Amino acid sequence: MITTIDKASERCLKCPLVDQQLVPSFGPTGKWMIIGEAPGRWEVQKGQPFVGQSGQVLRSTLTSLGIHPENDVYYANAVKCHPPANKTPSSTIINQCNPYLWEEILAVKPTKILLTGGVAVGAALFRTQAGPITSWRGAGLILETKLEGPDQWSAYAVPTWHPAAILRSPDK
Ligand code: URA
Repeated sequence: MITTIDKASERCLKCPLVDQQLVPSFGPTGKWMIIGEAPGRWEVQKGQPFVGQSGQVLRSTLTSLGIHPENDVYYANAVKCHPPANKTPSSTIINQCNPYLWEEILAVKPTKILLTGGVAVGAALFRTQAGPITSWRGAGLILETKLEGPDQWSAYAVPTWHPAAILRSPDK
């Protein structure tokens, strides 16, 4: 992970997931970024995001598009710690983790971002109630800092289904 998270910080201590396993993001900077919801069981075991079945869907899709899943993509989650029973994180949890996600986005400076699922869309748009992914899927969004100089950054972001939804209904 390019930034650090202090689990003893006031922010983390206020989070209901403070005692759960943190799974750090990984990947190269300045290229693609894929943002998911929160780490699952496999991710906790292996200590990296998107290394279970959902990750396999992403990796095979990326490969078929000529994007190298390891060299070209930084994998991150909107929520960094594992929610027990993979429960969808509450707005409180998403909000507590949001500054960490944004610190990371601005450090990685990706040129393109894939937002997988409604939690990732809400976190990227600072709207925990972003609405269903069906109303965002395929939209082209520009995320930007509107700052000058080295802090200037913008990226093209596309919301899509979470790969777990595709595993449940491959027609998606
Ligand atoms: N689902 C996610 O949203 N993130 C992961 O890292 C794994 C599964």
